[in-house]
Amino acid sequence: MRRVTLGSVLSVELLGCGEKQAPPPAKGQVEKQPAADIGAGKAFAERECKGCHGLEGGGAAPAIPHLAAQREAYLLGALKAYKEGKRTHAALREIASHMTDADARNLAAYYASLPPIQPAAARDAKPASPYERGKSLAAHCVKCHNEDGNSKTAGIPNLAGQQPQYLVIAIQEYLKKERKAAPMHALLPGLSRLDMESLALYFSSQTPAERAAPPFGDPKAGEPLSAVCGGCHGSHGVSTDSATPSLASQDARYLVGAIKAYRTTRKRENMRLYVTGLGEKEIENIAAFYSVQKSRAPEKGQTIVQELTEKCERCHAPSAAENPAMIVPKIHGQDRDYLIMALRAYRDDRRESTMMHKMSLPYSDAIIESIAAQYASQPAK
Ligand code: HEC
Ligand code: HEC
Ligand code: HEC
Ligand code: HEC
Repeated sequence: MRRVTLGSVLSVELLGCGEKQAPPPAKGQVEKQPAADIGAGKAFAERECKGCHGLEGGGAAPAIPHLAAQREAYLLGALKAYKEGKRTHAALREIASHMTDADARNLAAYYASLPPIQPAAARDAKPASPYERGKSLAAHCVKCHNEDGNSKTAGIPNLAGQQPQYLVIAIQEYLKKERKAAPMHALLPGLSRLDMESLALYFSSQTPAERAAPPFGDPKAGEPLSAVCGGCHGSHGVSTDSATPSLASQDARYLVGAIKAYRTTRKRENMRLYVTGLGEKEIENIAAFYSVQKSRAPEKGQTIVQELTEKCERCHAPSAAENPAMIVPKIHGQDRDYLIMALRAYRDDRRESTMMHKMSLPYSDAIIESIAAQYASQPAK
């Protein structure tokens, strides 16, 4: 299979062949580099890289990236980043440190010249989306929290439309016994992080239903008392921060219990401060006020992976024009575990890139795994 990438990759490759004339450098291409020697690159790879990246450029084990057919300028940049310590990996740091600039150019040219590694269809089969995973796990919760997470029983909270990160935090609070034992405790210890995030994505994507006023409290009297709460919980209790719960449309009986719990079992200094001076009547009024506010779902879990992938494609699509100011690696058909690792590294600030950091910051592991599986299963170009 012939690659049809334009610009520097093509010109360097042609120069490497010796006989043919190189096309004039593309506009914006100012650096003048000596020709890369693909043969020398191959010899170096045979000595130092083969064990992990293979001579065909395929990662020898999960979490080792494929290098075959990767953009040459990107490979070169990556080797430089290891050498300068901007990307950290023990083996590569060591190897890159005794690599000359010419070695790096030759290696990049060699791996870029190889045909792409196609994903093994069976191993990288597309998994269910985190939303679907959450939906099937939610079967264990609906007895109490109801089908769509809108609870109908006084004292049981809505999960519908709740902020996703908060839901994960809340589950962990039960597991760590930071909250009083609830009847559902027995179910929770079996959940993995991925399960929790999938459940959170599912419930946070459900539309919260409007509630009738509870048989206690006065919403009108509660409104002025809620003024100090809005800074964190959002206007009318609709939170816009994924770790702070929405209070709008929440079951009023549950809210009363939760507010009181911050004086005893729920150890959150921030919250204790704000609710500690409230009297019984005031708590009921605030709860009544919030319960009749209209809330909305913060997520669109049904389509989140697809919408994110469309954003990634703006830069990563094989057809996306090569932009000399931004060297974007190919990720279609890349090793799944490596993609997961790379995306987590951007998210957790362990790998530098202003571009990617912006894209991956809010991602949960569940979404990262789903996107990675999607890209890993695509044909490599
Ligand atoms: C001990 C195993 C091992 C050896 C040997 C090794 N690599 Fe790697 N390589 C890895 C792993 C693991 C990663 C992913 C590291 C990371 O997360 O940054 C990687 C990443 C890379 C990357 C970055 C790829 C990307 O998509 O960002 C390049 C380029 C690379 N290696 C080139 C080489 C070259 C060239 C050699 C030989 C001179 C080599 N490696 C030898 C294991 C190895
Ligand atoms: C037997 C009934 C029951 C089942 C089944 C149940 N829950 Fe609950 N859940 C409750 C009750 C009651 C509370 C309120 C406990 C309290 O006051 O802390 C609660 C509270 C919660 C909260 C805290 C909400 C908040 O606003 O802080 C979360 C999150 C939650 N449940 C998730 C789940 C999940 C996920 C499942 C399924 C795996 C589940 N629950 C199954 C009864 C149940
Ligand atoms: C400084 C920010 C902040 C302010 C101000 C604040 N809260 Fe909170 N509140 C939080 C955070 C963060 C949580 C989640 C804490 C946890 O994990 O238990 C929370 C949790 C709650 C909960 C539990 C919700 C649930 O689903 O279990 C209630 C009820 C609540 N707050 C009511 C109030 C009320 C009423 C006020 C105003 C009198 C208020 N809060 C003011 C940040 C704040
Ligand atoms: C605005 C352009 C842009 C967008 C949008 C973008 N990326 Fe990137 N991506 C880059 C650039 C530039 C790099 C190289 C950064 C570096 O050198 O570390 C990169 C690197 C990566 C890498 C590392 C590849 C490797 O071989 O190490 C992965 C994985 C990745 N992007 C996945 C994604 C995913 C998934 C999305 C969508 C959720 C996305 N990107 C959206 C520009 C973009």
